[in-house]
Amino acid sequence: MELDLTIEKLASDGRGISHHDGVVVFIDKTCPQDIIRAKIVKQNKSYWIGELVEIIEKSPHRVKPFCPMQNVCGACQIQYIDYNYQLECKREIVKDSMREFDIEIEPVEPSPQIKEFRHKIQYPIRQTQVSKRILAGYFKPKSHDIVNIKYCPIQPAICDEIIDYIRETAPIYKIEGYDEKKHQGLLRHVVIRSSAKTGGNLVVLVINSDKIPERIKDFAQKLIDRFDKITGVGVNLNNKKTNLILSDQTKILFGKDHIEEDLCGVTFEIGANTFFQVNPKSAENIFRFVKEYINDNFVKPTILDAYAGISAFGLVMANVAKEVTSVEENPHSVEMAKTTAKKNGITNIKFFCEDSEKFFDTVSEKFDVTILDPPRKGCSEKSLEYALNITKSKIIYVSCNPSTLSRDLKYLTSKGAKIERLKPFDMFCHTTHIENVAIIDVNPNNYKK
Ligand SMILES: C[S@@+](CC[C@H](N)C(=O)[O-])C[C@H]1O[C@@H](n2cnc3c(N)ncnc32)[C@H](O)[C@@H]1O
Repeated sequence: MELDLTIEKLASDGRGISHHDGVVVFIDKTCPQDIIRAKIVKQNKSYWIGELVEIIEKSPHRVKPFCPMQNVCGACQIQYIDYNYQLECKREIVKDSMREFDIEIEPVEPSPQIKEFRHKIQYPIRQTQVSKRILAGYFKPKSHDIVNIKYCPIQPAICDEIIDYIRETAPIYKIEGYDEKKHQGLLRHVVIRSSAKTGGNLVVLVINSDKIPERIKDFAQKLIDRFDKITGVGVNLNNKKTNLILSDQTKILFGKDHIEEDLCGVTFEIGANTFFQVNPKSAENIFRFVKEYINDNFVKPTILDAYAGISAFGLVMANVAKEVTSVEENPHSVEMAKTTAKKNGITNIKFFCEDSEKFFDTVSEKFDVTILDPPRKGCSEKSLEYALNITKSKIIYVSCNPSTLSRDLKYLTSKGAKIERLKPFDMFCHTTHIENVAIIDVNPNNYKK
């Protein structure tokens, strides 16, 4: 069956939403205000799925994607929508996720750059069956087939040069690309952390092995000799059948084990295994927003930075705080955070390498402000319950997943907390991903123990 439909808005996964006879229809690769013809390929009780057959009338918000690979590569799903309108669509997505709360969703803070903004690159490496050419790029949407990307305009140009060199030179060193189905072949991924501050790059070769072969050492030497802008080369040993890119075993073979990045006047060291926001300029907007909020509303508060990574929030907030306590479970990140504190002369911060939930449960102190920045899965109910117990005034919840944020806000508000502000930030341009900062008043008078 084919239908003519008008696209009303975008769903959180980037598909367009329309309605037919009261049934929701999802259609990929469409833009709000497109009038399209769609072939219905799936009919469930509550929704249908359509495939785009033709665009009858283009939305005024459609633009020509600036990347020639946009249509085949899975990385920039909505690059065909003009940037300002992408932001409006994202705000609508957040509004939809938060519809049960009586709050205003503030306008989305744009990313300062919409090209060359991505400073962490993780390319899977494969090889062609017959000619054994190395392939490196992103997966096609909903598949593990690689789009061999020579030019990616959302990352610094040097990353393309490094990847291209690896593609051409690896076979000379008898380094094969990984075969996921057979779990064979040496080179699984190349991860690059590229510094927006210095232009330096830490390159990590992720290999399907439990030891480092000589040919990988020689190849790593070649890489660091070839590029001035490669400041370190390491190897990550990952011989497990897993979708996880990095194991926790990284060894730096040449150069430095980190890159440097500046955030709000603090210089951070970022290693291969440490979490750091992929878009540092946009991240800086978030840090500035949180810092201004704290500075405007408190005089030298005590701050808990939980799910802290390299304690980016804690270290940036330290000069407006009496004392900061930082909790993170990844030991590499905690070590990097300690080094950063030392190098920047920050002394009013304590570090705990621990599970946040455990820490919240056992700590005897209470904090004026608690910053929660958990992974996409959000916080457990226990963590939220404990976080309420140990927070005197505000929880600042930073989230990259509106649906788990909404779930966690539901729990917090059910206990009497009040959402004061919700501000989205665009870190992941040309995708429907969105980062949110929720400021939550713990409101101890209402808090139901
Ligand atoms: C989204 S990142 C945030 C990092 C940091 N706030 C930043 O902005 O760079 C989430 C962090 O939580 C850490 N993490 C995940 N689960 C945790 C847990 N149960 N306890 C403590 N840390 C955890 C991860 O290692 C990661 O560094």
